[in-house]
Amino acid sequence: MEIITKSCEETIKVAFDYAKTLRGGDVVILDGEMGAGKTAFAKGVAKGLGVTDEITSPTYAYMNDYDGVLYHYDCYRLSSGEDAEALGLTDYFYLKGVCLIEWAQNIKDVLPKTLKTVKIEKIDENTRKITL
Ligand SMILES: Nc1ncnc2c1ncn2[C@@H]1O[C@H](COP(=O)(O)OP(=O)(O)O)[C@@H](O)[C@H]1O
Ligand SMILES: [Mg+2]
Repeated sequence: MEIITKSCEETIKVAFDYAKTLRGGDVVILDGEMGAGKTAFAKGVAKGLGVTDEITSPTYAYMNDYDGVLYHYDCYRLSSGEDAEALGLTDYFYLKGVCLIEWAQNIKDVLPKTLKTVKIEKIDENTRKITL
């Protein structure tokens, strides 16, 4: 399914609805360039899953754990799946929470076999094409 959004808020709303289709244990790749709206999408998913904490970019922490309900990854600074494994980041893929992963391509060799992908493309400053 392809959806065009015209603002960050619209993307959050799309993600909120998408969260309702997710089940515990799902691992979702958020694919898109810097500034595409991956973290915005994660905010909407969090809301949809009932997470009330503010979602912040986990760039320095690699992964933020929201009460075991949501694990939000940013693998931008990881250079291999081996690093992810050494840091214990791959263990969460097999728990009951939903995993959302930004820059998953950096750790592709250690991702689970079953994945969902959300692709976000920047069309212009405020327009995004989201493929679910
Ligand atoms: N339609 C849109 N959907 C999502 N973000 C948008 C949209 N239009 C503009 N933006 C802006 O794009 C930026 C997306 O940032 P962010 O979610 O952190 O991206 P990423 O995590 O992919 O690097 C934000 O500044 C947001 O306000
Ligand atoms: Mg981000």
